[in-house]
Amino acid sequence: MTTKTTNAGAGVRELGKRFGEVRALGGVTLDFPAGQVTALMGENGAGKSTLLKILTGDHQPTEGSVLLDGAEVELHSPARARAVGIRIIPQEPEIIPHVSVAENVYAGALPRKAGRRLDRAELRRRIEADLDRLGFSRVLDPDLLGSELTPAQRQLVEILRALTGEAKVIAFDEPTSSLSEQEVEALFGLIRRLRDAGVAVIYVSHRMKEIFQLADRIAVLRDGTLAGVLDAAQASEGELVRLMVGRDLSAMFVRQNVATDQVVLDVQHLSTDDVTDISLTVRAGEVVGLAGLIGAGRSELALALAGDLPVRSGTVHLDGQELRSGHPGAVIRAGLGLAPEERKAQALFLQRTIRDNTSLVVLERLRRWRFVRRTAERELAQQYADRLRVRAPSIEHEVRKLSGGNQQKVVLARWLARKPKVLILDEPTRGIDVGAKAEIYQIIADLAKEGVALLVISSELPEVLGLADRVVVMQNGRITGELDRAEATEERILALAMADDLASGPDLAAAASDEGRTA
Ligand SMILES: Nc1ncnc2c1ncn2[C@@H]1O[C@H](COP(=O)(O)OP(=O)(O)OP(=O)(O)O)[C@@H](O)[C@H]1O
Ligand SMILES: [Mg+2]
Repeated sequence: MTTKTTNAGAGVRELGKRFGEVRALGGVTLDFPAGQVTALMGENGAGKSTLLKILTGDHQPTEGSVLLDGAEVELHSPARARAVGIRIIPQEPEIIPHVSVAENVYAGALPRKAGRRLDRAELRRRIEADLDRLGFSRVLDPDLLGSELTPAQRQLVEILRALTGEAKVIAFDEPTSSLSEQEVEALFGLIRRLRDAGVAVIYVSHRMKEIFQLADRIAVLRDGTLAGVLDAAQASEGELVRLMVGRDLSAMFVRQNVATDQVVLDVQHLSTDDVTDISLTVRAGEVVGLAGLIGAGRSELALALAGDLPVRSGTVHLDGQELRSGHPGAVIRAGLGLAPEERKAQALFLQRTIRDNTSLVVLERLRRWRFVRRTAERELAQQYADRLRVRAPSIEHEVRKLSGGNQQKVVLARWLARKPKVLILDEPTRGIDVGAKAEIYQIIADLAKEGVALLVISSELPEVLGLADRVVVMQNGRITGELDRAEATEERILALAMADDLASGPDLAAAASDEGRTA
């Protein structure tokens, strides 16, 4: 184990970074001590990822320096940063699509046999040992191809990658955004072990709960400067929010009762490759929460409803009109909108502006929309960019230059602005800062009041409980239960989300470690 000296770990001194006219960081002096978890918080666009990317050699600072164990280091390339022991689990996983999980993890350092041939047996041994050590054996099959991975699995590949070899500093940039509760627990156990082994851990997240569970110190960035560093054991949530957003936040959730009896979305016995016999309804003005663990089939159901995944059997009616499967354009015209989970991959035109992205709906409609009410669209885009606090010089800014959370806001803005009859939001606040989250909850409430039928997929139970009039829970592609607002609690939702596991044996831990579950 490492002995703790005062300046072991990483640090930055008077650090500054500009991207053209945008100042992402300025005058930041901060330490990341060895053997501690330092949380890095701040609103979307505050500069968190930029700071991490300087530590990992992906960006060069415009001013200031980086220290490692008290001495200045030049991190002129990612390879250099890696060589001195700095690792990052990035916000957007970078996965090679056509090779396996094992090869993705060991890319650049694959075990070779004589004659430079890939040593598959050795690779297999290593990856299985890694998965085992991290408690991820059950959630990640090492033979899957990069292109076959879910967002959660892609994240796990990045984590595995960062942990190969010796690391002094490990930075996690919103690592839990697509992980299930169980996976989060496994990850936290791992982070604590790294910390106890003397690694300087940097942890970026927008989730208060996690920060208080995990962090020793909390550093807050605001508009690219350091707003303060708090001792996690002493800090309160209110204090932290004030430091981040510069104001107090009133109640996060808006309680109202505006559901009508008019069924707008009516799904009957729907089956696809991923989900089985799904029946559910959403009424005008109603917010239905769709809960479940990662892999329960919620996103796949949403994609099938939007016409993006084929339907095998069953029906979907919108306002009494049957939606034909496999016609995304027709589904949108009929009045159903989906803000998908994988916003970057599925929904954003990165080379285009915020304004374009807010007003465009789907690629095939692009041409038709070009002639439509330019100024009205502009105003709408501006209005939602303001409400959601998209941090950019103007709405003519290219989306690819925005921070992760601000990109997400643009996709959401598009659908919120559109006000379809049925709006499906898949993890609408993932990666979004606390101030903008409150605004999104308000917008959801406003839409419900205007009679929109809302189906909200969320893995954050407080969010489901705070928003939904009714909660539908799924596991293994099926609906396992439904709870009214009055009867819904975190425990009940979780019990339904794991109904199959509970039915096959009371001991969850045993079920998790026992691959061949007895039926
Ligand atoms: N490659 C880039 N080109 C231009 N501007 C950039 C680039 N990367 C970041 N920025 C800008 O720098 C600022 C800080 O962005 P950064 O990604 O560090 O924010 P963040 O704190 O990580 O936010 P989030 O919580 O949304 O991930 C933002 O205004 C962003 O638009
Ligand atoms: Mg970021």
